[in-house]
Amino acid sequence: MSILDKRAALKAEIDKVAEVAGYLWTKGWAERNGGNITINITQWVDEGMRELPAITEPKPIGTTLPRLKGCWFYCKGTGRRMRDLARRPMENGSIIRILPDCAHYEIVADAPVAPTSELPSHLSVHDYLLAKGSPYRASLHTHPIELVALTHSPKWMEKDVATRMLWSMIPETKAFCPRGLGMVPYMLPSSVELADATIRAIDEDYDVVMWEKHGVFAVDTDIMSAFDQVDVLNKAAQIYISARNMGFEPDGMTDAQMQELSQAFGLPK
Ligand code: 13P
Ligand code: ZN
Repeated sequence: MSILDKRAALKAEIDKVAEVAGYLWTKGWAERNGGNITINITQWVDEGMRELPAITEPKPIGTTLPRLKGCWFYCKGTGRRMRDLARRPMENGSIIRILPDCAHYEIVADAPVAPTSELPSHLSVHDYLLAKGSPYRASLHTHPIELVALTHSPKWMEKDVATRMLWSMIPETKAFCPRGLGMVPYMLPSSVELADATIRAIDEDYDVVMWEKHGVFAVDTDIMSAFDQVDVLNKAAQIYISARNMGFEPDGMTDAQMQELSQAFGLPK
């Protein structure tokens, strides 16, 4: 890829981040500074960018991530609002690179905006994805109202109980979120324990995992696709809740209908 192509590709990814940040705000999933986004941009970093000096001292990631040596990321800034990032992504986020010790990062551009407090989870997941040879380069944490509400009942926290209900609300859910919804019990936000539990859940073969009573963490090839998976799942949760609000438990698609759908779309499980 030429330098110009790399720059255009990188701009396109940051533009997508800004677009998704706007959707998160309009959906009501991004109160105050809620949620965060990181993108592994290493493939689009050109020789000119590689020469850029750091604009901050090295800071600890909080964990050591051997696959991230020399990797570059766009990160939402901690405390920054999605609604501001939607208009000014480089003022409300920054570009960091991981140092050779794989335990520290430094900010390279544009401004010294400290990355999200959920950096341990985001970077641990990127490290895991690289180890797996995954093409996924984007990770999204957000606070979707109906999905978070579900996690306040132990029933929905049981493995794949919410997945089955959500898939059965509307056929597109399984078609467009075929791996379902993993569940991570409550842990302190921004902790390394939460990062480790998130990886364990993703390793069970989920693209989207719930953090109990907090939010979702989703991964995909790009940020638009990660957003789409969460959007599809939350829509299914809204349909369930709408039926309950109308005074009945929704039937859901039958097992036979789900099987037929899985066969027709070549879906797993
Ligand atoms: P940051 O502002 O540090 O990204 O935190 C938001 C959040 O949702 C933490 O879980
Ligand atoms: Zn959060």
